[in-house]
Amino acid sequence: MVEISTSLLSTNEEEIIKIIYDLEFAKTDYFHIDVMDGKFVQNNTLEKMRKYTQNLKNVSNVPIEVHLMVNNVEEYVKDYIDLEVNSITFQIEACKNEMEVLKQISYIKQNNCKVGLAISPKTNIEKVYEFMPYIHKVIIMTVEPGKGGQELIPETIQKIEALNKFIYENSYEVDIEVDGGINEKNAKEVTNAGANILVAGSYITNSKDYAKAIKMLKQKM
Ligand code: DX5
Ligand code: ZN
Repeated sequence: MVEISTSLLSTNEEEIIKIIYDLEFAKTDYFHIDVMDGKFVQNNTLEKMRKYTQNLKNVSNVPIEVHLMVNNVEEYVKDYIDLEVNSITFQIEACKNEMEVLKQISYIKQNNCKVGLAISPKTNIEKVYEFMPYIHKVIIMTVEPGKGGQELIPETIQKIEALNKFIYENSYEVDIEVDGGINEKNAKEVTNAGANILVAGSYITNSKDYAKAIKMLKQKM
């Protein structure tokens, strides 16, 4: 069964506690925290996302997954390890070589946290293959990282299919997560391609009925 991870990026800070309560009630499977440093991507959400994660820790038991879109992965991993989140995923493009990717993967795991690799639309999916034995999830970015409310880039669907085939052929146990522009029109397509976790931000948080929006994404399976 596909799981839904709601991104809080496009939410109004003043209403965050009520939004968290309502999303928990609407049965989101995860909360998705988008950490942006203003360098890897133009947007800077460092303060907002740290505050949101503290809010979540105080008022919800729903697992928190952190998506780092930062240049200095290690610096921000430390922040979120202390907040005891469920998983930390970083962009493979932030690392200069394979050794650095492996170093960050083991640092996150040594701190008793699940780890994922995120891959931007222009990066070949083969770049993550060698790390598959060591990670729990791959986030295939279906938009350019940096902001919410964008349209899904259709060319990214074939990356989902390729990764799904590679996982099947090698019997890996790795989640395929898609992130960016997910809505009721493309949910079925990305899931049929092999995604088992869908990140949705604006489609859910801009809707009047969170539970209905989440159900629409799940029902499309
Ligand atoms: C974009 C973020 C996504 C984004 C998803 O850089 O990683 O998680 O918030 O938002 P929507 O679903 O509105 O594209
Ligand atoms: Zn994200």
